[in-house]
Order: sequence, then C-alpha cells, then structure tokens
Amino acid sequence: MSAHERIPLARPVIGARERELVDEVLRSGQLSLGPFVTRFEEVWAERIGVRHAVACSSGTAGLHCCLHALGLGPGDEVITSSFSFVASANAILYTGATPVFAEVDPHTFNMDPAAVEAAITPRTRAILIVDIFGYPAEVPALLDIARRHGLGVVEDACQSIDGDFDGRKLGTFGHPAVYGFYANKQMTTAEGGIVLTDDPELYRLLKSLTNQGRSDDGQWLVHSRLGFNYRLSDVHAAIGIAQVERLDDMMAGRARVAGWYQDRVRAIEGVSPMFEGPQRRSWFVYAPRLDQDLDRDAVIGRLEAAGVSAKPYLPCIHLQPFYRAEHGHRPGELPVTEAISASTVALPFFPEMTEAQVERVCEALGAAVAAERGAGVPAAR
Ligand SMILES: Cc1ncc(COP(=O)(O)O)c(C=O)c1O
Repeated sequence: MSAHERIPLARPVIGARERELVDEVLRSGQLSLGPFVTRFEEVWAERIGVRHAVACSSGTAGLHCCLHALGLGPGDEVITSSFSFVASANAILYTGATPVFAEVDPHTFNMDPAAVEAAITPRTRAILIVDIFGYPAEVPALLDIARRHGLGVVEDACQSIDGDFDGRKLGTFGHPAVYGFYANKQMTTAEGGIVLTDDPELYRLLKSLTNQGRSDDGQWLVHSRLGFNYRLSDVHAAIGIAQVERLDDMMAGRARVAGWYQDRVRAIEGVSPMFEGPQRRSWFVYAPRLDQDLDRDAVIGRLEAAGVSAKPYLPCIHLQPFYRAEHGHRPGELPVTEAISASTVALPFFPEMTEAQVERVCEALGAAVAAERGAGVPAAR
C-alpha cells in the first residue's frame, strides 16, 4: 500500500489455506449439509469448551433462532441494548416480541445491570445481552437478575468472538451465545454465524430450526416444526475452518494494532482512547470517542479527505428511522447511549495494519480535531 493510498476501515485476511479448503469443497461436489459444516461446528465447540455449536447463515439468524426457541411472541418484552447493531433488536422483533432498551454504562458501553433490572415489567420474558466492541457485558450480574426474575437469556457475542468474562469463555455460562462472521469481524466466513450451547435439547432444536424445521431424527424431508433456511454452506464453513486456524494470529495482530492506536490517541487532545477495564477486550473495532464540543461529522469529513476511512459508529438502534416511525422512539430516551453514539468514530482497523498506517490515521485525526477546534464553532446536536 503506497503512502497516499486510502486506508480502508476493515480488511479480511484471506490466504492459501482458505483457497485450498474452499477448493476441496468445490471438488467434493457436496456444497451444503456436508462434512465441512460439521467440522466447523466441532472446531468451535472444542475451542470454547461447550458441548455443541450450531453453524448458521448469519449472526442475525443465530440470534433469531435462539430467541424463537424461548417461545417469545406478541406482548412479550425482551430487554436489550440500543448501543448495538440493528440486528440485535430486529431479531427480537422477528419473534413478535418488543425490544425494551436499557441504558448503558458510560465506560464499557454495555448494558448497566441496574438499568436492566429497572426495565423489567410483568411482560418481560428475556434479556438479550450484547457484548459491544468486543468488551464483555456484566454477564454474572445480568444472569443473577434473570434468575431472580425467571427470565430467559441469549447473548449477542457477534462482536466478541472468542471473548470471555473473568477468563470464562462467553458461551459457557449456561445460555446460548452467538457469534457473527461478516467480513469485518475478527474472523470471517464472508457471511455466517454460530451458536454455542451446552444444552443438548436446545442444540437439537437449533439444528432443526436452521434447517427448515427438519424432524429431530433427521428423516429425509420430514418437517416437524416451522423452521427457516438458515444453513451455512460448506463453502463458507471451509473459509471458517481456515480462519479459525489463523484466529490466534489475527487476534494478536488486532491487539498489536490497538496498542499502537491507544498510545497515540491518548496524546490527542479532544479524543479519548478506548476503555481499558478489568476484562479482556476481543478487539473488533477501534472506535475512540470525541469530546462533545467537536462536530463528529466534520472530523470524519476531514479524515476521509485525507484518505483515511472513518464512520460514525455505532448509530443507536432506537433512533433508527424505522424504530422511530414504527415504535415511537425519540431522542432523549437514553441520554448515555445517545451521547456515546454521537461521539464515537470507527477508524481503520485490521490485523495486517502497519504501525506507519496507524501513525498516518492518528496524524490525520489530530489535524482534523485541531482544525475543528480552530474553527471554533461548537457542534449543534
Ligand atoms: C452486535 C451485532 N449483533 C448482530 C450482528 C449480526 O450479525 P450478521 O451480520 O452476521 O447477521 C452483528 C454483525 O454485524 C453485530 O455486530
């Protein structure tokens, strides 16, 4: 990459091993419902230390199946975070239930357990935990609330692949956890997801739900329930197997790049580096926070003009046009979530990023912030 080439936001690491395994699938003639999917599931179950893993066509599909398995329907409420990708809450809506958004912690950006407990009503049926930006939510505290109120729990760990809380892997806490493998994630299958669970009954149900409600004994074209076509193909699973083989290296690469960023961003006035707390972050994005007086969109515009890709990330779910129009949500409902969402910027972040590229991004960021400060016009929010 030349010194002036645009630095992309994300870039997957794809090499000879991915091509070799994909080629093996193509030559085998079995492109779906084949041994590569089974192998991919086994690799993950073993890596995390759970009894079962169910591959599916996306993280969204995995979330939908887990929520569907709780038997949710119209009139039910599920508490979740608005500081997430829209798929978290959409998966709740697919079941007919209503997402109820709990306020987040200003440091971890994950749901505040006290806010979750305060959001419980007689209609609450479940909590959808989200581990945002690869930092684990307060899983034990949320599970305690769920146990005391008799609520189901599903975990959206789509951004927290291979993550843990106090060293205990997400997915091993007794409720299902879902990863997403879109191309910007810590590892990818192009599109895809996986559900991790220790529960053999849930495993059988998820295998059926992801495969058109196929009967539990797997009989040919016998469908015992309404299911979905949420299968992952063997072509995608082959990419995934190769990616898991290089996952430790890619994670180390992300952590190294994050370290370079943290050191430099700390020195830029008006920008806060990403939170470092007691838990390990499974590095997914690098999204520092701008001071509130800065016009984030203007800073992003200056970065883009300097050849540095940057995006406002994450928009909060409750203020998406659809959630405002159909569900009546309004600004001001979740002040902490909205303030975070209005001030975080995703910068280029991928395992093969060089220190020189990080330097270039940070120089551009420092210059953009200084220019905005110099412009002296406070942002209208
Ligand atoms: C927090 C979160 N939840 C759910 C999803 C949905 O995953 P997918 O895109 O694989 O459907 C994503 C993926 O981007 C995500 O970041």
